Amino acid sequence: MPKIKKIAVLTSGGDASGMNPTIRSVVRCAIYNGIEVMGVYNGYQGLMDDEILPMDVSTVGGIISRGGTMLYSARAPEFIHAEGIKKAADNFRKHNLDALITIGGDGTFKGALDFSVICDFPVIGIPATIDNDINGTDYTIGYDTAVNVAMDAIDKLRDTATSHGRCFVVEVMGRHAGYIAMEVGVASGAEEVLIPETPTKINEVIDKIEQGRSRGKKSSIIIVAEGDDTGGGAKTCEMIEGKTGYPTRLTILGHMQRGGVPTAQERLMASRFGYMAIKALLEGKYNIAVGTYQGKNTFTELKEAVRKKQEIPFEDIEMLKQLSI
Ligand code: F6P
Repeated sequence: MPKIKKIAVLTSGGDASGMNPTIRSVVRCAIYNGIEVMGVYNGYQGLMDDEILPMDVSTVGGIISRGGTMLYSARAPEFIHAEGIKKAADNFRKHNLDALITIGGDGTFKGALDFSVICDFPVIGIPATIDNDINGTDYTIGYDTAVNVAMDAIDKLRDTATSHGRCFVVEVMGRHAGYIAMEVGVASGAEEVLIPETPTKINEVIDKIEQGRSRGKKSSIIIVAEGDDTGGGAKTCEMIEGKTGYPTRLTILGHMQRGGVPTAQERLMASRFGYMAIKALLEGKYNIAVGTYQGKNTFTELKEAVRKKQEIPFEDIEMLKQLSI
């Protein structure tokens, strides 16, 4: 097993709060173990463009509490072509790098897998996406902060919804994943949650809103993941108001869910994942994604991590049904 002396770290794809504490953990644990670290700016694009600079203990000072990513992020379509990967590999060799740690979601992991297969370089993936949809882990960096940001916004919307006797449709992020919608729905006491994983029966949603109103309910909050089969928040809002006449307003939380101060849980998971990534490299575990499942550390083959999405716990949907009567 070749000794790992020098590594690079990058963040890629949609950013997520908690990426900074993850970078901090990777850098500090690597240096503690005698490994040199280079930071790649702007994700895979920066790897192709040679935006690679040394990092040290102080480079990552003061970032544990900051949202965003100090290494910046980008989606890099060129990286899926062999030519782009080759350019990245040339830079990788030029800097005498022994391994790459990539922090991001499934697109980032697919890039990492291609890079490891085509160029035979060791890679480790750290799951970071607000969508929480990576196979092999039940937590991804950014998720807890995103849920808290959305919950805080929905609490405020509930105040005004109740004052005016209105229904609010709140669109949260998740083109293919309903995790944020479902968890924030439970945490904010929403009346309904519409997610891409299950077909939406809009008439049942409307019946439920009307039943609530006839019982004297002062407001309704309907959470819609952006990828829901109704067509998203705007369409849902239109259908509800059109069919019930109930004054309905739409709020799209959008990218605000990707920002914000990382929660305590986020910082702890970020620190743990960074530590696990370096430990894995030292133990010769390559081409894997670190993660956690039911409280235990996990190491999932990258090809398995990208094979499918992490399934939604459907029992939470049943729980929500019972809580929102
Ligand atoms: O994957 C993270 C995510 O925030 C999704 O929830 C959302 O659908 C998508 O990224 C938005 O991507 P972009 O920032 O490129 O518009």
